[in-house]
Amino acid sequence: MIQNIFDSHAHYDDRKFDGDREELLLSLRDSGVRLLTNIGSNLQSSARSVELSRRYDFIYAAVGVHPHDAIDVPEDYLEQLEQMAKEQKVVAIGEIGLDYYYDFSPREMQKIVFEQQLRLAKKLGLPVVIHSRDAAADTMELLKKRRPKGIVHCFSGSTETAKEVLKLGMYIGFTGVVTFKNARKTLEVVEMVPLDRMLVETDCPYMAPEPFRGKRCDSAMLQKTIEKIAEIKGISPQEVADITNRNACRAYEIG
Ligand code: NI
Repeated sequence: MIQNIFDSHAHYDDRKFDGDREELLLSLRDSGVRLLTNIGSNLQSSARSVELSRRYDFIYAAVGVHPHDAIDVPEDYLEQLEQMAKEQKVVAIGEIGLDYYYDFSPREMQKIVFEQQLRLAKKLGLPVVIHSRDAAADTMELLKKRRPKGIVHCFSGSTETAKEVLKLGMYIGFTGVVTFKNARKTLEVVEMVPLDRMLVETDCPYMAPEPFRGKRCDSAMLQKTIEKIAEIKGISPQEVADITNRNACRAYEIG
């Protein structure tokens, strides 16, 4: 079994884990998972992320407002995020970004909330966790303008976009999508991205890798994602776990 795994992007605050959260989290060490970052998607889930990081020594937290939730942020949301970010185990602002696939929030509003949080991260000296779906051009424009450090998670863009992300000094996160049959474009990106700039993540409860596709995902399933990346890169799965663990610690500035 692969050991020393760092799940760089998880949502254990999600209500899909309400029935067995404690038991599941405590079992992860037996599945080779050493560390994880729980990612906020709005103020409530950010607060729950912080709570998880307080309760479990192997969990870090990110706080931020996802583009889906940009539509109803309270006026003082930046102050609230800043307050939460003072917690010792908050390692990033995220997830933040643009989602033009679902368009749950008007695009203009998504852009405003995204840029405000990029500026907050700069002010606090924290890395960011970026969500971008069908919005590569606008995402890259804002990243080039604000030049944050951090991670573009669940990367779904082209190799060209990935090269631009790397040029900005950022890391790229890969999910169980790499195991999907129709993942040709993502596999090309895995091939291109240097080992020292990639992270592995579940984005759980979503994005379960094959053969669990469609089921509730958890960090134990990263074994499958790592095996696939190892196959593409031509190194051992354990090396992939060790390298991506180191990268995640660097990206989140841990230790
Ligand atoms: Ni996510």
